[in-house]
Amino acid sequence: MVNKEVWEKVVLQQLELPNQVNIPNRIWRAATWMGMANPDGTVNDTVIDTYSKIKAGLVFTGFQYVSPEGKSLIGQLSNSKPEDLPGLKRLADAIHSTGSLAGAQLVHCGGAANPRFCHGDVSFGPSDGEFRIPTGGIKKVKAMTIEQIESVTQDYVEAAKRAVDAGFDVINVHGAHGYQLWQFFDPNTNKRPKDDPYNSTSLEGRSKALIEVILAIKKVVDVPIFVKVNSSSSGTKPEEVGELVKKIAHAGAHLVIISGSRSTQNPKEVGEAYFLEKAMKIKEITGDTDILFALVGGIRTPKTIVRLLSGNGSKKARFDAIELCRPFICEPALIDRWNLETKMGNQNPARCISCMGCFEPAFSGSGTQCTSFKD
Ligand SMILES: Cc1cc2nc3c(=O)[nH]c(=O)nc-3n(C[C@H](O)[C@H](O)[C@H](O)COP(=O)(O)O)c2cc1C
Repeated sequence: MVNKEVWEKVVLQQLELPNQVNIPNRIWRAATWMGMANPDGTVNDTVIDTYSKIKAGLVFTGFQYVSPEGKSLIGQLSNSKPEDLPGLKRLADAIHSTGSLAGAQLVHCGGAANPRFCHGDVSFGPSDGEFRIPTGGIKKVKAMTIEQIESVTQDYVEAAKRAVDAGFDVINVHGAHGYQLWQFFDPNTNKRPKDDPYNSTSLEGRSKALIEVILAIKKVVDVPIFVKVNSSSSGTKPEEVGELVKKIAHAGAHLVIISGSRSTQNPKEVGEAYFLEKAMKIKEITGDTDILFALVGGIRTPKTIVRLLSGNGSKKARFDAIELCRPFICEPALIDRWNLETKMGNQNPARCISCMGCFEPAFSGSGTQCTSFKD
């Protein structure tokens, strides 16, 4: 049981960032594809109703595609055209209405995009290859030209400007989970030769696409920039991610969110905070930079949250924030419950059982929702 003073001091502590972005507490809603947007990716009343109920220090939207060729899932939010702006403004307002700050997660899914959304039959990634579509089937991936890579970077810039115009407080660049920017970092998906600037044979080449996106966004907006990265993947070790995070810090991003491949495991099977060990390795390597760290993946209890945020007294082991995804699908006002229970001296874990039932309705077009508990 975490006592009230510790909870208030560690969890309900404001995080002060540049541009007067003061995040009211350290429990954040991880970026979550809700599968509820209109077919053209614009915001509708269902999206607004859903986000108006979520309360966290910072609420990230689901991944917003920065160009139609980068869209992978049904009901995914668009941030790829001027007409998206009014809906994105409504969305930022809905998030602010609960006292949360609003973060826009931006993505191009690269080889993992589904070309069906723009009537094509191939998607574009770092190298020629194939991609298995989660809902079935295999499609061809074609290597991007340098001009295509530069054009996607520009799409990120336009999307970031639109997000800030819409009132979002923070930009979250999706550099994880096997999408375009991670595809460049992972030699299993990036096979570009040594003489290519985005080559797979040097950390410089593998990191270039992501670093260029950060630098380009930084030139046009002054809100804090966060980057979500994998802690590892089949072709990448945490030590290499540590070197990547140094470059991310050097490019001027403020915080990295450590996730991983197989991002949605069951903490009952693999343990709570299942990317912690790899995240610690990454932190150790980046020790002399001042970039902030958040951790995501299977975090479920107040006790673990306090342990991660306090580092059990060790600065090296301390995270600046933690993120939850599935628990907020199950209980959008989970923080209110934990605050109340803390006052009453009786904290219970998140109710989410990590069954992954929440994905199913979204794939069939009715939006991400908890199928285990109905209030
Ligand atoms: C329904 C669903 C949608 C998700 N959508 C996104 C997304 O849009 N962007 C992202 O970075 N991660 C996404 N994730 C991964 C989560 O942000 C998070 O990293 C992962 O679920 C582990 O956290 P948890 O154990 O608290 O659920 C999604 C996960 C789920 C279950």
